[in-house]
Amino acid sequence: MNYEEFYRRSIDDPQGFWGEQAGLIDWHKPPQQVRDYSNPPFCKWFVGGETNLCHNAIDRHLGSRANQTALVYISTETNETATYTYAELHREVSRFAAVLQSLGLQKSDRAVIYMPMIAEAVFAMLACARLGVIHSVVFGGFAAHNLAVRINDAKPKILISSDAGMRNGNPVPYKHLVDEACRLAKFPPEKVIICNRGLDKNMAMTEGRDLDYATLRAQHMDAVVPVTWMESSEPSYILYTSGTTGTPKGVQRDTGGYAVALAASMRYLYAANPGEAMLTTSDIGWVVGHSYIVYAPLIHGMTTIVYEGMPTRPDAGIWWKIVQDYKVTTMFSSPTAIRVLKKQDPVYLRKYDLSSLRYLFLAGEPLDEPTSRWISGSLGVPVVDHYWQTETGWAILTYLPGVELKPNRFGSPGFANYGFNLKIVKEGTGEEIGLNEKGVLVAEPPLPPGCLTTVWGDDKRFVKSYFSDFKQMLYTTSDWAVRDDDGYFFILGRTDDVINVAGHRLGTREIEEAVSGHNAIAEVAVVGVQDQLKGQVAAVFATVKDANMIQNDDDRARLEKEVINRVVEILGPVARPSKVHFVNALPKTRSGKLLRRSIQAVAEGRDPGDLSTLDDPMSLEAVRQAVQK
Ligand code: PRX
Repeated sequence: MNYEEFYRRSIDDPQGFWGEQAGLIDWHKPPQQVRDYSNPPFCKWFVGGETNLCHNAIDRHLGSRANQTALVYISTETNETATYTYAELHREVSRFAAVLQSLGLQKSDRAVIYMPMIAEAVFAMLACARLGVIHSVVFGGFAAHNLAVRINDAKPKILISSDAGMRNGNPVPYKHLVDEACRLAKFPPEKVIICNRGLDKNMAMTEGRDLDYATLRAQHMDAVVPVTWMESSEPSYILYTSGTTGTPKGVQRDTGGYAVALAASMRYLYAANPGEAMLTTSDIGWVVGHSYIVYAPLIHGMTTIVYEGMPTRPDAGIWWKIVQDYKVTTMFSSPTAIRVLKKQDPVYLRKYDLSSLRYLFLAGEPLDEPTSRWISGSLGVPVVDHYWQTETGWAILTYLPGVELKPNRFGSPGFANYGFNLKIVKEGTGEEIGLNEKGVLVAEPPLPPGCLTTVWGDDKRFVKSYFSDFKQMLYTTSDWAVRDDDGYFFILGRTDDVINVAGHRLGTREIEEAVSGHNAIAEVAVVGVQDQLKGQVAAVFATVKDANMIQNDDDRARLEKEVINRVVEILGPVARPSKVHFVNALPKTRSGKLLRRSIQAVAEGRDPGDLSTLDDPMSLEAVRQAVQK
């Protein structure tokens, strides 16, 4: 097959193309219409079809793969390993689903899952999918405030959590953050299920609200829970992601479109086969975890590996050992993780038999050339960069090894993925621009299957955030991009206030809100600054209400620590700023708008560009001096 032909067909004949892909999954009732785009930009895929994500991930394999391993759980934190065949996974998920059912959960109810990387987290997600309960998984690195914000938006009936996670050998308590979030939330869940790992001996249970999962599970050992068939467009999950405002957006995913998109991606993009093993090193709290730890590998009949631990513990060979032991063919990680490994002794890469590995896929942040060269050279397999977003659920730009693997070009995540009608346009006007010119990467709607169908509970925000930047209705990725003479795309960073720290997407506005809550702080701007290891880090620039607070270096250091601790306390360790710079004034326009892009440019030692709107030129100079200090 040839990429151009394959891609063209997906754009010129979407109904034919996706109608065929729909055959990759099981339907209880076949779709009557491939696509309904009568209400732009809202798009429904596989209208009238009835299916279920859990059925496709588990039940449909029971005939042919009941005894094949479906899930391997490896924790280098607790030194546990557990394997589950498809039959065993079916039993565990049925038990979890029976527990949820016994607590009154039914189709369309919401469940928040706030869990470490343990097998029960996957069981919980699949059990929700089985019942048509909409899950909202919240990343474990988020603190109580973040959890409460997500609880208030999704209004879950239930919250599923654990006593603690483990990081670097130390327990990280979850349950007390759950208690705090329930206290902060306006719409706290009625019940909290706790998967108790015995890591937090001091954990307190709230009478009448908190339930122990092991006890409940024991009551449903032989449970048989039929799947709840979902109309293709009915929501399967919500996943919150940061945007330009301080309030995260609930990306709403459908059921049938997502299942088809993932099933197709396993063939054409990941070039993987049923029966093989996939190792995705992300976390279930992120979109990569949803799509490529949980749903896609299982839908494709593979073995998925759920890993709890660091890439460097007990040593930097752990992932390669897993590749060897489980004959992993398909690995998916992030550039930051590879940069972390690059700092370690290269001997670990030669120590294990990696002959099973076919490709290493990387995504989430720009892949720099030295990292790409190093890892592809060391592994001796192609490294495939691909670019996507929480919103899309699967890749927008990529090389397609399952169709035609084009030569790699360093720094480029490749070409437009099938289904995405991409353009690069001028900011403001939306006018298409030529090759080698920088513009905003957009997609002509409708978006292909698998992408967000709306923002949870807020159709207006969906239209405003994603389709209203230009005269024409175009989906904006909010990323700058350029295409070279040979059609390779390059991503040049965000157009908005979102930053990317170690592949984790964070909103600078959320961090600003946390900082400005400190009573010594008058004004604040947070920008992403380039970092050798993490890609970007969050740098805080702030003015204080009373200059006496920062008279000497000790004062400044004390206040900096307080500010950083506050951010960690409110948003979680994932949002920890790298540095707080105190300045006399922040660069603003005459109308008082913060010039974040200029601050960022100066902080990175770049030319801040047009400063004609700058109110006080000294303020930018102060930023420069603060950074140099
Ligand atoms: O800025 C782009 C960057 O990460 C953003 C999306 O992050 P998130 O919603 O967390 O989804 C990650 C899914 C893999 C994008 O808007 N980004 C993602 N992949 C790449 C990337 N930047 C450059 N190269 C990539 N391969």
